[in-house]
Amino acid sequence: MCQEEKPHAPSCDKNKKPILDCLWPLLKDKSNLLEIGSGTGQHAVFMAPHLKHLTWTLSDIKDRQRGMSLWLREEPIINVKGPILYEIGKNTPHFPKSVKPFDVVFTSNTLHILNWKNVERLFKDLKENLEKETLFIAYGAFKFDGKYTTESNKEFDDWLKEKDTNSGLKNFEDITQKLLENNFNLLEKINMPANNNLLVYKKQ
Ligand SMILES: C[S@@+](CC[C@H](N)C(=O)[O-])C[C@H]1O[C@@H](n2cnc3c(N)ncnc32)[C@H](O)[C@@H]1O
Repeated sequence: MCQEEKPHAPSCDKNKKPILDCLWPLLKDKSNLLEIGSGTGQHAVFMAPHLKHLTWTLSDIKDRQRGMSLWLREEPIINVKGPILYEIGKNTPHFPKSVKPFDVVFTSNTLHILNWKNVERLFKDLKENLEKETLFIAYGAFKFDGKYTTESNKEFDDWLKEKDTNSGLKNFEDITQKLLENNFNLLEKINMPANNNLLVYKKQ
């Protein structure tokens, strides 16, 4: 019988270890992580076994649910929950609920996929659904002062816009300002390999 093949994102193989190295000190006192736009779920499959003190909940849009389930079926991990449905910009289902409040929300490579309206919607959801002290951590490529940091990031942005004119790299200052308006202060901006950044915000 043919086995259904699980989706594979090569970029996750490259960035999972550097991201984990940065997340580890930030997450050492956290217990309940929600990941938004988990994609294949590969980050959780790699990272959660190194973060056994917390629960990692996967979420994404409907089309991604099956792929994540295939990864978890092959490698069940005791502290990974989900996948659950969360589509930013859709009223149903609304922001993921948890009996114990999420104390960290992580998202990787999603902000450049979302249009600006959905970025605003996401930040509003974070404001309305998370408690004080909750961390919001976003990994990906960003522009700074409206400028690309490298030619390769510009090419990446052109490629994204060719596929969807409303997507594309977001400006770090715009993200930070919009999060501030939603009660999140910037804690850290960490330079990552391949011209990416890990942005860390905390709810006030
Ligand atoms: C480039 S992938 C990143 C996947 C994974 N986090 C990674 O780093 O490889 C962007 C993800 O955002 C998700 N996404 C797109 N629009 C979304 C929305 N409106 N709400 C939630 N997730 C969304 C996609 O389904 C996809 O999994």
